[in-house]
Amino acid sequence: MSRLLLLEAMGNTGPYLLRAAEELGLRVTVVTHEDVYAKCYAPALKELIGDDVLFTDFADTETSRRQLVAYARDNDVSGIVCGWEFLSPLVADLAAELGLPGNDPRRALGCRNKRVMAELFAEHAVPSPRTLLARTYESAVAQIAERGQEYPLVVKPAEQSASWGVSVVREPQELAAAFALAQSWPVETPHHIPLDTTVIIQEYVGGVEFSVEAVVCGGLITMLPVTEKFTTQDAYRVEIGHTVPAVLSAESLTQIRRTSERALEALGVLNGVAHIELKITPDGSAKIIEVGARLPGDHVVRLMHVAHGLDEARAYVEAVTGRQPEITPTYERAAAIRFFTSYRAGTFQGLRGLGTSPHVMSVDTDAPGTRVGGVRDKGNDARVGHVILSGADTAEVNAAAAVVMAHVRVEVG
Ligand SMILES: Nc1ncnc2c1ncn2[C@@H]1O[C@H](COP(=O)(O)OP(=O)(O)O)[C@@H](O)[C@H]1O
Ligand SMILES: [Mg+2]
Repeated sequence: MSRLLLLEAMGNTGPYLLRAAEELGLRVTVVTHEDVYAKCYAPALKELIGDDVLFTDFADTETSRRQLVAYARDNDVSGIVCGWEFLSPLVADLAAELGLPGNDPRRALGCRNKRVMAELFAEHAVPSPRTLLARTYESAVAQIAERGQEYPLVVKPAEQSASWGVSVVREPQELAAAFALAQSWPVETPHHIPLDTTVIIQEYVGGVEFSVEAVVCGGLITMLPVTEKFTTQDAYRVEIGHTVPAVLSAESLTQIRRTSERALEALGVLNGVAHIELKITPDGSAKIIEVGARLPGDHVVRLMHVAHGLDEARAYVEAVTGRQPEITPTYERAAAIRFFTSYRAGTFQGLRGLGTSPHVMSVDTDAPGTRVGGVRDKGNDARVGHVILSGADTAEVNAAAAVVMAHVRVEVG
């Protein structure tokens, strides 16, 4: 039986990938760090994985790469998937070295590092925010003045995720604090992978935000239905919910698909999946915010399945193991997720005021007593749980979500 390597299973998509591989008759070896396995893997996840776990030190990329190539050669590995965005360049390197379907290893860093992404977008004229790159606050101030870049600006780290360190800066006095926040994490959590501390300073793109998924096989891109994305509108932008599918005009849908395809071509995404975040601006055009060579987080994989019968995790495994991905929607319904977010740090005490609805499929919350970060420091991770809903269409599921969430209070002591 041939084998799939899953680089890190502790993220939101790990269980979806494990189940998809099992359905396809593939054995899976999960690759992670020993300490991460001990601290971050829930008992249920360990049980789902079984014994096939390989420990490595992702922070020592070169040693890890050599170890994984040797393992893959000895163990009939027929494909590699990424369960943690920070590892997507390593996944591309390994696939190239082993002659397996993957992305262009020379450009794969562009799917994780926003500096490289901005450079590739500029080179390939992909519609995206005007971007300045600075390593020091003084350089940021000088470049903003030199280019006549107007406020508001978005300031964010080159290599983080989940909105960590992202802020919208409305005036020059706020820049220093935003810059320092963007440089707060020189290493990734939890593997301690060293990160590029360049700060990205972007034009603020107005309009409405969406995300969209793509399945790519041999360079052929198939776009999946678009996801409506709900974010906070204040200085710290965090995602508070998603609905699949977004209701869009034919024109916006075309803009989203065409612009996303150009982004994937620029980044050398050739085999696998991609998660694209973008905005439809007030003039109706699309601008790409970011692209990840990975599945979507936040249970969007489940939403896609509930709304359309699509299994993106399975399509991902198929695309990287030389199979033809199955990506035809089988029905047209709708699904939504809403998060219970704590705006300040503290100890989670309980959730109050959650409404009821026949559209609710599941509710998940942390145990009272869990420490929770606020949105400023923890971005999207400032959550204590979520609710998933289904409905006949987008309007119905959004209305149900609004009722359920209307009086929710996250109590933090
Ligand atoms: N240039 C921009 N203009 C407007 N909003 C932005 C811009 N860049 C980021 N954002 C907002 O901040 C959120 C997080 O930024 P993003 O670049 O996606 O970083 P992360 O990798 O942390 O998700 C986005 O989903 C979007 O709402
Ligand atoms: Mg993002």
